[in-house]
Amino acid sequence: MKIISCPLELKEYLKGENNSTSFQGNRTIGFVPTMGALHQGHISLIKKAKEQNELVVVSIFLNPTQFLKGEDLDKYPKRDEADKQICKLSGVDILFFPHVADMYTNDEVTLCAPKVRGYVLEGNSRPSHFNGVLTVVMKLLNIVTPTRAYFGKKDAQQLNLISLMVKQLFMSTQIIPVDTVRESDGLALSSRNAYLSPNDREEALKISSSLRQASAMVVKNILDSKEIIKEMRNTLGDLEVFYVEVLNRDFEQLSHVEIGNTIILVEVRVGTTRLLDNIWL
Ligand code: PAJ
Repeated sequence: MKIISCPLELKEYLKGENNSTSFQGNRTIGFVPTMGALHQGHISLIKKAKEQNELVVVSIFLNPTQFLKGEDLDKYPKRDEADKQICKLSGVDILFFPHVADMYTNDEVTLCAPKVRGYVLEGNSRPSHFNGVLTVVMKLLNIVTPTRAYFGKKDAQQLNLISLMVKQLFMSTQIIPVDTVRESDGLALSSRNAYLSPNDREEALKISSSLRQASAMVVKNILDSKEIIKEMRNTLGDLEVFYVEVLNRDFEQLSHVEIGNTIILVEVRVGTTRLLDNIWL
């Protein structure tokens, strides 16, 4: 596995100017952008990228511009050496590991998230978060120019906005959504689960329970969004709920679940940690 930290060096390497193999243009490149503290969720993205492409690039970059003031940038889990090993063992070809100064200057061109879809749900409680996500993903896609890039359905709004960016800005990478990986008890894997105390961890199970409950209601043909949201909020109990929403795949509110076109999304605070999860029906 080759580790590269300089964006231009990576671009050159992929062009084949520094070695005998030219990847761009004649070999498919699968790309998995991450912020590190890798877990099985990230690994499932890498596996899918390996299945579908001849060359796999992973980036690990804790992107400061997507964190708001007072958020967890400084205490975000960092496990650089373990992450490198995980990438190596997962068969990653190139690990892109830039420093902040490799990616940003003091005066930057910035992308803005769309005024509606970028400012609901997570964008409502974290305004400007998605500007940072879109800007860094744009930079990363321009550096790697992958055939396909892989994103988790767990971050459904992020996936939606990135797909929108690629479509609206006529970019040529194909965005591939990947199913959420969960612990055996249902908790969706997340780097932020590292913050949970044993008690928080127990409380956090209410999130996946509420989503299972929603899907059980749909199976019984109870499709009314208000009814579903009420039951889910009951299950979430005294957790601080940021939102529970029943939306279509374009992120518009639905009065009734439409099978094949619905995402039910939840974001709550458990202890001091924000956790999000969703189910695609
Ligand atoms: P990060 O939180 O490290 O996640 C990297 C990718 O892994 C994202 O596409 C995310 O949706 C996916 N992922 C996280 N948990 C998952 C799970 N349990 N199952 C499946 N996939 C999962 O998301 C980011 O980083 C950043 O915002 C980034 C896109 C890299 C831009 O900085």
